[in-house]
Formats: sequence, C-alpha cells, structure tokens
Amino acid sequence: MKIACTYFILTTAYFLLSITSVWAQKNGETVFKETCVACHTIGKGKLVGPDLANVQNRHQQEWIINFIKSSQTVIKSGDKYADSLFKAFNQMPMPDHPNLSTDEIKGVIAYIQEQSAAPEPTTASAAMPPGDSKRGQELFIGNIRFVNQGAACNSCHNVDRKGFLSGGALGKDLTHAVGRLSASGVTAIISGLPFPQMKETYSSKPVTQQEIADLTAFLTDADKQDPADVFGSVGNYLLIGGACGILILLALYSVFWVKRKKLPVNFFVFKRQIKSA
Ligand code: HEC
Ligand code: HEC
Repeated sequence: MKIACTYFILTTAYFLLSITSVWAQKNGETVFKETCVACHTIGKGKLVGPDLANVQNRHQQEWIINFIKSSQTVIKSGDKYADSLFKAFNQMPMPDHPNLSTDEIKGVIAYIQEQSAAPEPTTASAAMPPGDSKRGQELFIGNIRFVNQGAACNSCHNVDRKGFLSGGALGKDLTHAVGRLSASGVTAIISGLPFPQMKETYSSKPVTQQEIADLTAFLTDADKQDPADVFGSVGNYLLIGGACGILILLALYSVFWVKRKKLPVNFFVFKRQIKSA
C-alpha cells in the first residue's frame, strides 16, 4: 500500500514535470542526449535497448513515433515485431514519453539518421574511473552517504548478498542486473536515469562518476557471487531469529508465572472459607 502510494506520487510528479516541459520545444539532439542515451546508442552496439543506427530504415516513421510515445501500446496492439523485440530485450519495457511532441520525435529521428552516418565520438561509460566494489556496497545500503545526498539504492531495490538481506521492492531486484543488462547497461542507467522514479530521486542530487563506478563494481560482484553464500546467510538469520523467538517466549512465560505466584490457587479456597465462616 505504501509502495503503491509512493509510486502514485512519483508518477504524478513526473507527469506534471512532463507537462511543464512541453512549453519548451527541444531539438532532436537535446532530446536524444537527455532521454534516450541512457538506453540506446547510435552505432555503438546494444545497451539496455537496441542500437538505433538506421532505425529509420527498419520502420515507417509513424511506427517509430507511436513506439516512442508508448511502446507498450504498440506491443499490446498485437504488433509481432514489437512483441518479439520486447521479448528479445528481457521484457524490459521502454518507458512512455508522453512529454515529447510529434515534432520533437521527428527531430530525434532526424538526429538518429544524421548520426547513423557519423557516430558520436565518445560515450559516457568509456571514460569511467575504476570502481571499488566494497565501497559500492556501502553506498548501495546507505552506510556511506552519496556525495550529493541522494537516497540509498536499497530504499527501492533489493540485492541478495551475504551479510544483508534487505531492500525495497519499488524497483526490480538488482542481484543479477549486470547479468541482465551488462555492466555498461547498468552504468548507463545510473548516469542516464531513464526511469521516472530514479530521475525524481537523483536528478537534483546526482550520483558522481566515481560512485557510479563503485556501484557498478558492486553489482558486478553480486551477479557473480555463489548463491550458496547467500543462502548460507539466510540460514544464519533464521537461526538467530529462532533463538530470539525462544528467548522472548521464555521471558513472557516467566512474567505470567510471577503473576500466578502472587495469586496462588489456594487464595480462592481461602476466600471461600472466610465467606462461609
Ligand atoms: C529505459 C530504457 C530506454 C529508454 C530511456 C529509451 N528506450 Fe527505446 N528501447 C528500449 C528497449 C528495452 C527497447 C526494445 C523493445 C522493448 O523492450 O520494448 C527499445 C526500443 C526502441 C526502438 C525500436 C528499435 C528497433 O530496433 O526496432 C526505438 C525506435 C526506440 N527504442 C527509440 C527510443 C528513443 C528515441 C528514446 C528517447 C526518446 C528511447 N527509445 C528511450 C529502452 C529504452
Ligand atoms: C525511488 C526509488 C528508486 C531508487 C532510490 C533507485 N531506483 Fe533504480 N529503479 C527504480 C525503478 C522504479 C526502476 C524501473 C523499473 C524496475 O526496475 O522495477 C529502476 C530501475 C533500475 C535499474 C534497471 C533494472 C532492470 O533490470 O531493469 C537499475 C540497474 C537500477 N534501477 C539501479 C539503481 C541504483 C544503482 C540505485 C542507487 C544509486 C537506484 N537504482 C536507486 C527505482 C529506484
């Protein structure tokens, strides 16, 4: 219920933000770099979504416009290509872009077409500093604060890891995020913030390049860890939990037992006898 409320508030906030940004028409390059670059390259290979180089040759413009506005609507309409693309990308839904006007989308398509001939020279992830997995873990669970004070990732995401078993359920479980999306995909998501809830949390409190590298290193380790390690720690938690439960029960018993001692059974017998006397 609480999660549903938070989700509702965040989505509404994003929607309002979207409406205000309609007033400022943006050109194709700006839109691509602000909105699409987290998941797509033009000529640099697959990231979270497919490489968009020459996408204008694969589809009618109208199809592309509809897909960008609401990919799930296209998929649910029974479009076979869209459905198999969705399945090929681990059923990762591409977010809707209700804030983009048809003209802005045409601008993006023109930009993609132009860049398909001459790809951008650099990508954000190419120049990443090396990451420290231990530090990434501490950042993830909030033991170390982010430099810009953003919320800990585990307020919305879980990672199964020896030593801790926690994390919110608003976002997906990230134990195998690197397996699903590749390390550069994860890096691109943390820097590009394609999801409204994450954008809401971090756009004004950006995660630094070094922190992104540390988190990616941590998630890479989490993806590779031996599952037996995790289950071993679940076992420990259960054992400790069980022991605590028994202690609490014993404590309760002793409290009741003390009360009973104060009122011994023969108290009532005694009272009855006094009455009858
Ligand atoms: C959160 C990641 C994400 C963002 C942000 C995103 N996309 Fe996508 N996109 C995907 C995924 C994943 C697919 C594959 C289809 C699916 O899973 O639904 C896709 C598919 C596409 C396709 C179909 C490609 C093909 O080969 O047929 C186009 C076109 C596209 N996206 C354009 C865009 C544009 C333009 C933007 C920015 C306005 C954008 N996307 C933003 C994830 C994203
Ligand atoms: C306010 C909640 C929130 C916070 C905080 C948050 N996320 Fe997310 N995140 C989401 C939501 C919602 C999604 C999109 C849908 C999903 O994965 O369930 C998402 C998606 C992702 C994905 C893609 C998952 C996949 O496999 O599809 C990754 C990777 C990710 N987040 C990493 C992080 C990292 C790293 C942090 C900490 C810097 C973080 N998130 C903080 C809510 C959050």
